[in-house]
Amino acid sequence: MKVAIGSDHAGFQLKAQLLNWLRTAGGGKHQILDVGTVSEESTDYPDFAKEVAEAVTKKRVSKGILFCGTGIGMAMAANKVHGALAAVAWNPETATLAAEHNGANILCLPARFLGLKQAQAMIKVFLTTPFGGGRHGRRVKKILAIEKC
Ligand code: RB5
Repeated sequence: MKVAIGSDHAGFQLKAQLLNWLRTAGGGKHQILDVGTVSEESTDYPDFAKEVAEAVTKKRVSKGILFCGTGIGMAMAANKVHGALAAVAWNPETATLAAEHNGANILCLPARFLGLKQAQAMIKVFLTTPFGGGRHGRRVKKILAIEKC
């Protein structure tokens, strides 16, 4: 799968730790588009959220993963891009439900509150869990309709 990833300074270390894993067998051998940031120097998370969200909604990649301190700012910014369904998750169960029930196409991870193993488990289920459709499809359509108001 093609996956776009991005972080601000708070998410940089976790993103860096996950890059090779994502590209190799353990993490699923994905093709990764890393939009930055490239160090722990202070940055603004909306810049990276926008790039990842646009890569997803313009179908340059299938899914996105964003890292900031809490995941919250990244989700708020990414969800401004029409078609982005960015979800903050905090354990594998909520990452699974974000994909299955909410059709999330971007996972936003709270890097300051997660360990590497927990992040790996969440990414694995997020990238492999299919959307449930049915009643969930109806609800997601309503979310996207709100963006058109
Ligand atoms: C940066 O200090 C922090 O505010 C940011 O990473 C994020 O948590 C915002 O939602």
